Amino acid sequence: MTQFLIRTVGVLGAGTMGHGIAQVLLRHGYSVVLSDASPSLLAKGVERIGRGLARDAEKGRLTPEQRDQAFERLGTSPVLDPVAAADFVIEAITENFDAKTAVWRELDACARPEVIFASNTSSISITRLAAVTRRPAQFIGLHFFNPVPVMKLVEIVPGLETSPATLDVAEKLATSLEKTPVRVNDFPGFISNRVLMPMINEAVYAVMEGVAEPQALDTVMKLGMNHPMGPLELADFIGLDVCLDIMKVLYDGFHDSKYRPCPLLAKMVAAGRLGRKSGRGFYDYSQS
Ligand code: 3HC
Repeated sequence: MTQFLIRTVGVLGAGTMGHGIAQVLLRHGYSVVLSDASPSLLAKGVERIGRGLARDAEKGRLTPEQRDQAFERLGTSPVLDPVAAADFVIEAITENFDAKTAVWRELDACARPEVIFASNTSSISITRLAAVTRRPAQFIGLHFFNPVPVMKLVEIVPGLETSPATLDVAEKLATSLEKTPVRVNDFPGFISNRVLMPMINEAVYAVMEGVAEPQALDTVMKLGMNHPMGPLELADFIGLDVCLDIMKVLYDGFHDSKYRPCPLLAKMVAAGRLGRKSGRGFYDYSQS
Protein backbone atom coordinates (compact mmCIF):
# COMPACT_ATOMS: atom_id res chain seq x y z
CA MET A 1 0.00 0.00 0.00
CA THR A 2 1.25 3.52 -0.69
CA GLN A 3 0.42 7.09 0.16
CA PHE A 4 -2.28 6.99 -2.55
CA LEU A 5 -4.25 4.34 -0.72
CA ILE A 6 -4.03 6.23 2.57
CA ARG A 7 -5.97 9.39 1.94
CA THR A 8 -7.42 10.14 5.33
CA VAL A 9 -5.63 9.66 8.62
CA GLY A 10 -7.46 9.80 11.93
CA VAL A 11 -5.41 11.37 14.72
CA LEU A 12 -6.58 10.76 18.27
CA GLY A 13 -5.47 13.40 20.74
CA ALA A 14 -4.93 17.08 19.89
CA GLY A 15 -2.14 17.71 22.40
CA THR A 16 1.53 18.37 21.71
CA MET A 17 2.15 15.17 19.76
CA GLY A 18 -1.29 14.79 18.14
CA HIS A 19 -1.46 18.29 16.70
CA GLY A 20 2.14 18.04 15.47
CA ILE A 21 1.45 14.71 13.75
CA ALA A 22 -1.70 16.18 12.17
CA GLN A 23 0.22 19.22 10.92
CA VAL A 24 2.87 17.07 9.27
CA LEU A 25 0.24 14.83 7.64
CA LEU A 26 -1.61 17.87 6.28
CA ARG A 27 1.64 19.38 5.00
CA HIS A 28 2.26 16.19 3.03
CA GLY A 29 -1.12 16.02 1.33
CA TYR A 30 -3.17 13.78 3.61
CA SER A 31 -6.63 14.60 4.92
CA VAL A 32 -6.86 14.44 8.69
CA VAL A 33 -9.68 13.90 11.14
CA LEU A 34 -8.41 15.14 14.49
CA SER A 35 -10.33 13.93 17.52
CA ASP A 36 -10.11 14.87 21.16
CA ALA A 37 -12.71 14.35 23.87
CA SER A 38 -11.87 17.81 25.23
CA PRO A 39 -13.38 20.56 23.02
CA SER A 40 -10.95 23.13 24.41
CA LEU A 41 -7.91 20.96 23.63
CA LEU A 42 -9.31 20.31 20.17
CA ALA A 43 -9.73 24.04 19.55
CA LYS A 44 -6.22 24.72 20.84
CA GLY A 45 -4.84 21.93 18.62
CA VAL A 46 -6.52 23.42 15.53
CA GLU A 47 -5.13 26.84 16.37
CA ARG A 48 -1.61 25.41 16.75
CA ILE A 49 -1.92 23.55 13.44
CA GLY A 50 -3.01 26.79 11.77
CA ARG A 51 0.02 28.57 13.19
CA GLY A 52 2.32 25.69 12.17
CA LEU A 53 1.03 25.66 8.58
CA ALA A 54 1.37 29.44 8.43
CA ARG A 55 4.98 29.03 9.54
CA ASP A 56 5.47 26.39 6.81
CA ALA A 57 4.25 28.94 4.26
CA GLU A 58 6.44 31.74 5.70
CA LYS A 59 9.45 29.45 5.41
CA GLY A 60 8.60 28.39 1.85
CA ARG A 61 7.80 24.79 2.73
CA LEU A 62 4.26 25.39 1.41
CA THR A 63 2.87 27.97 -1.00
CA PRO A 64 0.03 30.12 0.41
CA GLU A 65 -2.41 28.05 -1.70
CA GLN A 66 -1.00 24.78 -0.37
CA ARG A 67 -1.28 26.15 3.17
CA ASP A 68 -4.97 26.99 2.66
CA GLN A 69 -5.68 23.63 1.01
CA ALA A 70 -3.88 21.80 3.82
CA PHE A 71 -5.98 23.57 6.43
CA GLU A 72 -9.15 22.75 4.48
CA ARG A 73 -8.25 19.05 4.62
CA LEU A 74 -8.46 19.17 8.42
CA GLY A 75 -11.65 17.93 10.03
CA THR A 76 -12.28 17.68 13.75
CA SER A 77 -14.53 15.69 16.02
CA PRO A 78 -14.96 15.31 19.77
CA VAL A 79 -16.30 11.76 19.20
CA LEU A 80 -14.74 8.76 17.49
CA ASP A 81 -17.33 7.98 14.78
CA PRO A 82 -15.84 10.24 12.05
CA VAL A 83 -12.37 8.83 12.80
CA ALA A 84 -13.65 5.34 12.01
CA ALA A 85 -13.98 6.41 8.36
CA ALA A 86 -10.22 7.05 8.09
CA ASP A 87 -7.84 4.69 6.26
CA PHE A 88 -5.20 4.77 9.00
CA VAL A 89 -5.47 5.90 12.62
CA ILE A 90 -2.69 7.27 14.82
CA GLU A 91 -3.41 7.52 18.54
CA ALA A 92 -1.52 10.13 20.56
CA ILE A 93 -3.58 10.46 23.73
CA THR A 94 -2.31 10.48 27.29
CA GLU A 95 0.38 7.93 28.13
CA ASN A 96 -1.90 5.67 30.14
CA PHE A 97 -2.63 2.02 29.33
CA ASP A 98 -6.29 2.06 30.44
CA ALA A 99 -7.06 5.29 28.60
CA LYS A 100 -5.44 4.02 25.41
CA THR A 101 -7.12 0.62 25.48
CA ALA A 102 -10.55 2.19 26.11
CA VAL A 103 -10.17 4.30 22.95
CA TRP A 104 -8.82 1.42 20.86
CA ARG A 105 -11.65 -0.91 21.92
CA GLU A 106 -14.24 1.67 20.95
CA LEU A 107 -12.64 2.42 17.60
CA ASP A 108 -12.04 -1.25 16.83
CA ALA A 109 -15.78 -1.84 17.11
CA CYS A 110 -16.65 0.75 14.44
CA ALA A 111 -13.66 0.99 12.05
CA ARG A 112 -13.52 -1.04 8.82
CA PRO A 113 -11.59 -4.30 9.32
CA GLU A 114 -8.76 -3.29 6.97
CA VAL A 115 -7.95 -0.03 8.78
CA ILE A 116 -4.49 0.05 10.37
CA PHE A 117 -4.10 1.26 13.94
CA ALA A 118 -0.89 2.91 15.13
CA SER A 119 -0.08 4.10 18.61
CA ASN A 120 2.35 6.94 19.28
CA THR A 121 2.98 5.50 22.73
CA SER A 122 6.42 6.40 24.01
CA SER A 123 6.93 3.22 26.01
CA ILE A 124 3.82 1.04 26.48
CA SER A 125 3.96 -2.44 24.91
CA ILE A 126 2.48 -2.47 21.40
CA THR A 127 1.73 -6.18 21.80
CA ARG A 128 -0.42 -5.45 24.88
CA LEU A 129 -2.28 -2.58 23.21
CA ALA A 130 -2.85 -4.63 20.04
CA ALA A 131 -4.25 -7.52 22.07
CA VAL A 132 -7.34 -5.52 23.11
CA THR A 133 -8.36 -5.17 19.44
CA ARG A 134 -9.58 -7.77 16.97
CA ARG A 135 -6.84 -6.71 14.54
CA PRO A 136 -3.44 -7.29 16.22
CA ALA A 137 -1.90 -7.98 12.79
CA GLN A 138 -2.88 -4.44 11.79
CA PHE A 139 -1.61 -2.72 14.90
CA ILE A 140 1.81 -1.06 15.14
CA GLY A 141 3.80 1.53 17.09
CA LEU A 142 4.63 4.80 15.29
CA HIS A 143 6.64 6.84 17.75
CA PHE A 144 7.14 10.47 16.71
CA PHE A 145 9.35 13.02 18.49
CA ASN A 146 8.65 16.47 19.81
CA PRO A 147 8.51 18.93 18.06
CA VAL A 148 7.02 16.63 15.41
CA PRO A 149 7.38 19.05 12.46
CA VAL A 150 11.11 19.35 13.18
CA MET A 151 12.33 15.95 14.41
CA LYS A 152 13.26 13.52 11.65
CA LEU A 153 12.87 10.21 13.49
CA VAL A 154 9.92 7.84 13.72
CA GLU A 155 10.48 4.67 15.71
CA ILE A 156 8.48 1.88 14.05
CA VAL A 157 7.58 -0.77 16.59
CA PRO A 158 5.91 -3.98 15.44
CA GLY A 159 4.13 -5.97 18.14
CA LEU A 160 4.38 -9.74 18.31
CA GLU A 161 1.43 -10.19 15.93
CA THR A 162 2.04 -7.24 13.57
CA SER A 163 2.02 -8.41 9.96
CA PRO A 164 4.82 -7.61 7.47
CA ALA A 165 2.20 -5.80 5.33
CA THR A 166 1.32 -3.47 8.24
CA LEU A 167 5.02 -2.82 8.87
CA ASP A 168 5.48 -1.97 5.21
CA VAL A 169 2.57 0.49 5.16
CA ALA A 170 3.76 2.16 8.36
CA GLU A 171 7.28 2.59 7.01
CA LYS A 172 5.96 4.00 3.74
CA LEU A 173 3.70 6.41 5.60
CA ALA A 174 6.60 7.66 7.73
CA THR A 175 8.82 8.04 4.66
CA SER A 176 6.09 9.95 2.83
CA LEU A 177 6.18 12.44 5.73
CA GLU A 178 9.93 12.94 5.10
CA LYS A 179 10.74 11.16 8.33
CA THR A 180 13.35 8.46 8.79
CA PRO A 181 11.70 5.30 10.08
CA VAL A 182 13.82 3.10 12.32
CA ARG A 183 12.53 -0.35 13.19
CA VAL A 184 12.77 -1.24 16.87
CA ASN A 185 11.44 -4.29 18.67
CA ASP A 186 8.70 -4.15 21.28
CA PHE A 187 10.50 -3.83 24.63
CA PRO A 188 9.75 -1.26 27.35
CA GLY A 189 10.77 2.23 26.22
CA PHE A 190 11.79 0.85 22.80
CA ILE A 191 15.24 2.38 22.10
CA SER A 192 14.69 6.13 22.35
CA ASN A 193 13.23 6.29 25.82
CA ARG A 194 15.20 3.36 27.18
CA VAL A 195 18.35 5.37 26.54
CA LEU A 196 17.04 8.95 26.96
CA MET A 197 14.95 8.63 30.13
CA PRO A 198 17.61 7.04 32.36
CA MET A 199 19.89 9.93 31.37
CA ILE A 200 17.22 12.46 32.37
CA ASN A 201 16.48 10.49 35.56
CA GLU A 202 20.18 10.43 36.43
CA ALA A 203 20.38 14.19 35.89
CA VAL A 204 17.53 14.63 38.38
CA TYR A 205 19.38 12.41 40.88
CA ALA A 206 22.48 14.58 40.43
CA VAL A 207 20.42 17.71 41.23
CA MET A 208 18.77 15.97 44.20
CA GLU A 209 22.17 14.99 45.56
CA GLY A 210 23.45 18.56 45.16
CA VAL A 211 26.11 17.71 42.59
CA ALA A 212 25.17 20.76 40.51
CA GLU A 213 22.42 23.31 39.95
CA PRO A 214 20.10 22.55 36.97
CA GLN A 215 21.62 25.25 34.81
CA ALA A 216 25.17 24.05 35.46
CA LEU A 217 24.21 20.46 34.73
CA ASP A 218 22.50 21.43 31.47
CA THR A 219 25.48 23.55 30.43
CA VAL A 220 27.79 20.57 30.93
CA MET A 221 25.67 18.45 28.60
CA LYS A 222 25.14 21.19 26.01
CA LEU A 223 28.73 22.38 25.77
CA GLY A 224 30.47 19.12 26.65
CA MET A 225 28.31 16.74 24.61
CA ASN A 226 26.78 19.07 22.01
CA HIS A 227 23.23 18.21 23.05
CA PRO A 228 20.80 20.87 21.75
CA MET A 229 19.12 21.00 25.17
CA GLY A 230 20.45 19.87 28.53
CA PRO A 231 18.60 16.90 30.07
CA LEU A 232 16.65 19.03 32.56
CA GLU A 233 15.65 21.58 29.94
CA LEU A 234 14.58 18.64 27.78
CA ALA A 235 12.64 17.08 30.68
CA ASP A 236 10.76 20.38 31.10
CA PHE A 237 10.11 20.39 27.34
CA ILE A 238 8.78 16.79 27.31
CA GLY A 239 6.84 17.19 30.59
CA LEU A 240 8.04 15.85 33.93
CA ASP A 241 4.84 13.78 34.27
CA VAL A 242 5.59 12.09 30.94
CA CYS A 243 9.19 11.42 32.03
CA LEU A 244 7.96 9.93 35.31
CA ASP A 245 5.40 7.74 33.53
CA ILE A 246 8.06 6.41 31.18
CA MET A 247 10.46 5.66 34.05
CA LYS A 248 7.65 3.71 35.73
CA VAL A 249 7.06 1.71 32.54
CA LEU A 250 10.79 0.90 32.38
CA TYR A 251 10.93 -0.03 36.06
CA ASP A 252 7.78 -2.17 35.92
CA GLY A 253 8.85 -3.74 32.62
CA PHE A 254 12.38 -4.77 33.56
CA HIS A 255 12.13 -5.03 37.38
CA ASP A 256 15.64 -3.61 37.47
CA SER A 257 16.53 -1.02 40.10
CA LYS A 258 18.60 0.93 37.59
CA TYR A 259 15.30 2.27 36.24
CA ARG A 260 13.84 3.42 39.57
CA PRO A 261 12.31 6.90 39.16
CA CYS A 262 14.19 9.59 41.06
CA PRO A 263 12.19 10.69 44.15
CA LEU A 264 12.76 14.34 43.23
CA LEU A 265 11.10 13.74 39.84
CA ALA A 266 8.08 12.16 41.57
CA LYS A 267 7.95 15.02 44.09
CA MET A 268 7.99 17.69 41.39
CA VAL A 269 5.18 15.96 39.50
CA ALA A 270 3.16 15.68 42.74
CA ALA A 271 3.60 19.43 43.24
CA GLY A 272 2.37 20.17 39.71
CA ARG A 273 5.77 21.34 38.49
CA LEU A 274 5.41 19.63 35.14
CA GLY A 275 7.78 21.77 33.09
CA ARG A 276 6.97 24.21 30.30
CA LYS A 277 3.30 23.27 30.07
CA SER A 278 2.59 24.16 33.71
CA GLY A 279 4.87 27.22 33.74
CA ARG A 280 7.40 25.68 36.10
CA GLY A 281 9.69 22.67 36.20
CA PHE A 282 13.43 22.81 36.68
CA TYR A 283 13.12 26.30 35.19
CA ASP A 284 10.51 29.06 35.45
CA TYR A 285 8.44 29.72 32.31
CA SER A 286 5.85 31.99 33.88
CA GLN A 287 7.08 34.99 31.86
CA SER A 288 7.30 33.16 28.49
N1 3HC B 1 7.09 23.24 18.01
C1 3HC B 1 7.21 23.34 16.66
N2 3HC B 1 8.34 23.82 16.06
C2 3HC B 1 9.34 24.22 16.86
C3 3HC B 1 9.26 24.16 18.27
C4 3HC B 1 8.08 23.65 18.84
N3 3HC B 1 7.94 23.50 20.15
N4 3HC B 1 10.42 24.63 18.78
C5 3HC B 1 11.18 24.99 17.73
N5 3HC B 1 10.53 24.74 16.59
C6 3HC B 1 11.01 24.96 15.23
C7 3HC B 1 11.20 26.42 14.91
O1 3HC B 1 10.01 27.01 14.44
C8 3HC B 1 12.27 26.33 13.83
O2 3HC B 1 11.68 25.96 12.62
P1 3HC B 1 11.62 26.90 11.34
O3 3HC B 1 12.39 28.16 11.68
O4 3HC B 1 12.27 26.12 10.27
O5 3HC B 1 10.19 27.15 11.09
C9 3HC B 1 13.12 25.12 14.24
O6 3HC B 1 12.30 24.37 15.15
C10 3HC B 1 14.38 25.52 14.94
O7 3HC B 1 14.00 26.37 16.00
P2 3HC B 1 14.94 27.41 16.70
O8 3HC B 1 16.00 27.83 15.72
O9 3HC B 1 14.12 28.48 17.31
O10 3HC B 1 15.48 26.65 17.93
P3 3HC B 1 16.62 25.62 18.12
O11 3HC B 1 17.62 25.60 17.02
O12 3HC B 1 17.06 25.89 19.49
O13 3HC B 1 15.87 24.22 18.04
C11 3HC B 1 14.72 22.43 18.99
C12 3HC B 1 14.78 23.93 18.84
C13 3HC B 1 14.54 21.78 17.61
C14 3HC B 1 13.52 22.12 19.86
C15 3HC B 1 16.08 21.93 19.62
O14 3HC B 1 16.30 22.59 20.84
C16 3HC B 1 16.10 20.46 19.86
O15 3HC B 1 16.34 19.66 18.96
N6 3HC B 1 15.86 20.04 21.13
C17 3HC B 1 15.81 18.63 21.51
C18 3HC B 1 14.45 18.09 21.14
C19 3HC B 1 14.35 16.64 21.48
O16 3HC B 1 15.25 15.98 21.95
N7 3HC B 1 13.16 16.10 21.20
C20 3HC B 1 12.84 14.73 21.53
C21 3HC B 1 12.14 14.67 22.85
S1 3HC B 1 11.82 13.02 23.34
C22 3HC B 1 10.37 12.66 22.61
O17 3HC B 1 9.72 13.44 21.97
C23 3HC B 1 9.91 11.26 22.79
C24 3HC B 1 8.80 11.16 23.78
O18 3HC B 1 8.37 9.80 23.79
C25 3HC B 1 9.16 11.58 25.17
